[in-house]
Amino acid sequence: MQGWRGNCSIPGSDGLPVQCVGPWVEDKFFFLERYLIASREARRKFSDNGNAAFIDLFAGPGKCIIKGEKKEIDSGGMRALKREDAPFNNLYYFDIVQANVDSLGKRMNRKSGIHIHCGDSNILVEELMQKLMQDLYRYHFAFIDPFSPQGLKFDTLKKLAKLNKMDMLINFPIGAIKRNLQTWMDRSDTILDDFLGTNEWRREIKESTKGNIFRALIEIYKKQLISIGYPEEGLRAASSDDKICSGLPTVPIRNTKDVDLYVLILASKHPLGQKIWNSIIKYDPVGQKRLF
Ligand SMILES: C[S@@+](CC[C@H](N)C(=O)[O-])C[C@H]1O[C@@H](n2cnc3c(N)ncnc32)[C@H](O)[C@@H]1O
Repeated sequence: MQGWRGNCSIPGSDGLPVQCVGPWVEDKFFFLERYLIASREARRKFSDNGNAAFIDLFAGPGKCIIKGEKKEIDSGGMRALKREDAPFNNLYYFDIVQANVDSLGKRMNRKSGIHIHCGDSNILVEELMQKLMQDLYRYHFAFIDPFSPQGLKFDTLKKLAKLNKMDMLINFPIGAIKRNLQTWMDRSDTILDDFLGTNEWRREIKESTKGNIFRALIEIYKKQLISIGYPEEGLRAASSDDKICSGLPTVPIRNTKDVDLYVLILASKHPLGQKIWNSIIKYDPVGQKRLF
């Protein structure tokens, strides 16, 4: 079922490529949509004036199929487009695979306000920022959802963070980091150095006990987010999973064997953004109150 670069070997019901995903991906979308819904009043004053922008750095083809269930679902970027209450006025989608970009364009089927580009987001972000920096009063929400740390350089977040009104929902790909950590430990200038934006992690990991490694990595990421202007107060005030996430407004997304695959991190410079995220992650997708 799984084909090239995460796309299924068979197309979706509309004949276009779809991404093959596990059921845990629905949790990721649950938290994304909850945030977009809960933040609609704050967004409305921008949206009403044409000033709300959505950025999807790793957009995919627009649809996913849940492996084993044959259930077809919308991608995160499609869900953002379909928000009717305080909608985004301009939506920027990037993907490195041409077939994904083509499919997304066909599925979106709406001309105004949608900008879809093929290429490496870490490069495309430069041109995007030149454009966005011309209108500093706008609100921006970036959905940052790479498969692995290989897709995302911290420097890219640093560029986005030049905008003051930039909320970022980041998928911290802990599963892919787990699989490769030992290899990266023994080398320098690795994918993980670029993803975290520092090589400080090697020393921290050596000093951590085995059970604390991911907590230490997330702590480093937190320091890095603070260094690009996301306020420490907001990050500190957040709830966290005491196993792997400390001090960051994160929510762990688990796969069916209950192994963490992703950690979602919300970075917002505005206390209201943090407050909204903290209130929605108190409940998991089945409505259970989380124990932290
Ligand atoms: C986890 S999938 C995205 C899923 C999508 N956000 C969704 O909601 O269904 C990651 C996507 O990033 C794309 N990708 C990988 N490296 C990239 C890069 N450097 N720049 C842009 N896109 C990249 C892949 O082709 C793939 O479609």
